[in-house]
Amino acid sequence: MTVWVTGAQGQVGRCLVALGGVGLSRADLDLSTAGTEAFRGTAGALLAGGAPHGDAPHVIINTAAWTDVDGAEDDANRATVEAVNAVAPGELARVARDAGVGFIHVSTDYVFSGTAPEGGRGWRPDDPVWPANEYGRTKREGELAVLEAGGTVVRTSWVWSGPEAPGRDFVSVMATLADNGVDPKVVDDQVGRPTFAADLAAELWALAGEQVGAGPAPEILNLTNSGEPVSWCGLAREVFRCTGHDPARVSPCTTQEWPTPAARPPWSVLDLEAWSTRTGRTPPDWRDALRRGLGAGYRLG
Ligand SMILES: NC(=O)c1ccc[n+]([C@@H]2O[C@H](COP(=O)([O-])OP(=O)(O)OC[C@H]3O[C@@H](n4cnc5c(N)ncnc54)[C@H](OP(=O)(O)O)[C@@H]3O)[C@@H](O)[C@H]2O)c1
Repeated sequence: MTVWVTGAQGQVGRCLVALGGVGLSRADLDLSTAGTEAFRGTAGALLAGGAPHGDAPHVIINTAAWTDVDGAEDDANRATVEAVNAVAPGELARVARDAGVGFIHVSTDYVFSGTAPEGGRGWRPDDPVWPANEYGRTKREGELAVLEAGGTVVRTSWVWSGPEAPGRDFVSVMATLADNGVDPKVVDDQVGRPTFAADLAAELWALAGEQVGAGPAPEILNLTNSGEPVSWCGLAREVFRCTGHDPARVSPCTTQEWPTPAARPPWSVLDLEAWSTRTGRTPPDWRDALRRGLGAGYRLG
């Protein structure tokens, strides 16, 4: 199976490349040019030639995105965010469809913004969306275009990669603070489920395998680590615990006390039932993932 991976240097992309994916970087295909003839021409030529990446793909996994949630609120970035998150996914999905190539697009819990549905369940793939910020809005636009072109949308949440990308994710930032003797205040009224990039990549890879030669598969699936939902504060405490520090050093605060340019959803939990039904697999518990990712001897230095 040949799988092309956009966003090859990102948290999820680099894990997919480690599994054997062929990485496409910004230099190969700049998604901020989506919506132009030049973009479609470059994407089409890449697929038609297979070059410079060897064999033509069976499946493309699009992990590339504008992921700076607060930066997406800045007017100066608006056109780029729109092109990368809203326009490029659909254009890539159409090029893939026309070439008979499967297409999997990674999306986000930030398409939701409400409080927990009745019973405190996670958001299901077909629940009504209501993005709270520009990042979520543009990602939702991208989802719709991918579905229209017959691609598969996989929503995830709270992605972290720890030592794989130090400083780039919440978990590694908290581990560094713990090691450096900093006692942080962390938001306790936003709840979700963390997702280890390596676990997400392994499941995406398996899904790609199921899509080889299978034809269009327009559906939305949720894919995060499993386990009890947790707040950012609870996650930070677990990171402190896993790295041999006192979790009580982390104190809770409210979203109001920690204002950000982009509004954040209070409830980011994604329901995993459709994933388990569809694949027969339940992703590992996030606490197990944390112990694996922050294994013995883990230090960021
Ligand atoms: N991180 C999270 O907590 C989270 C949560 C939910 C969903 N997601 C979704 O999961 C996917 C993967 O996230 P991630 O955490 O792996 O993201 P990431 O680490 O920020 O990586 C994003 C990748 O996209 C690439 N990219 C950005 N702009 C580009 C452009 N104009 N042309 C080509 N490539 C471009 C970046 O390239 P450079 O390396 O050149 O900058 C980078 O490799 C994204 O779709 C994201 O929306 C993430």
